[in-house]
Amino acid sequence: MNIVRQAPWAIHHFDSLGSTNDYLKGLTDASEFTCVTADAQTAGRGRRDRAWVSLPGEGLYLSVLLLPNSAQGNVALISLLVAIAVAETLTEYRVAALDIKWPNDVLINERKVCGILVEGASSGAQALRLIVGIGVNLNHQSFPPEISETATSLFLQLGQTVNVAEFRDRLLARLAHWYAQWQQGYATQIVARWQALSTYAHGQEVTVTLDDEVIEGVTEGLTKDGALLVRTAAGKMRTILAGEVMRMRRRYPE
Ligand code: BTN
Repeated sequence: MNIVRQAPWAIHHFDSLGSTNDYLKGLTDASEFTCVTADAQTAGRGRRDRAWVSLPGEGLYLSVLLLPNSAQGNVALISLLVAIAVAETLTEYRVAALDIKWPNDVLINERKVCGILVEGASSGAQALRLIVGIGVNLNHQSFPPEISETATSLFLQLGQTVNVAEFRDRLLARLAHWYAQWQQGYATQIVARWQALSTYAHGQEVTVTLDDEVIEGVTEGLTKDGALLVRTAAGKMRTILAGEVMRMRRRYPE
């Protein structure tokens, strides 16, 4: 393991870990902005208990500790601002057809290039500790059959390999910027930036899978707290706080 200090971040880097999120969760004395990265993960986790493909050197596997104070802003927006930071970093690589699917899947040409897993790690009356796990597919040349139709990597899009540490540093700079915006209470700017980067924000026909129902409708932007507004065919406005969003029609041709 080696530690790189790069204000405000302290990056603990490993050749291999089970999951960077799990390792960071175990660092109970860690201060805000502690990061854990690994060249590979043997038990990388995604949302809904899915595995996250984490072979050596192919992707960025990064977890960041944030200690947000809700007096500074709405914590729900953190998940959105992380996606903004990733999407903006990807624009530095001149990626076309970049998108964010609510709340925080980053897509290129409708395929997922980055997943974000935000987990709480506090107990009882402790202050909120958020572990922000970010997996970015950088140098993957192929994916397992079960995700080969839905995943992509920067290599597959650009035809050239990407330096993982350089991508990490660019991303952390963007993350520092957007987290500082959040700390200063600039929720409107975060919501506006997310909407500008996402084709899902307005006028998109979607299905949304909730715990106990599936709804269909057209998106009408985000609330100031980052919830997705969906108007159903019956004209009812639904405010989506959590759920799996799927586009009903593809936006870009194959
Ligand atoms: C998703 O399902 O979209 C979220 C995927 C998150 C993967 C990252 S990789 C770094 C961190 N460690 C994990 O085990 N998961 C997250």
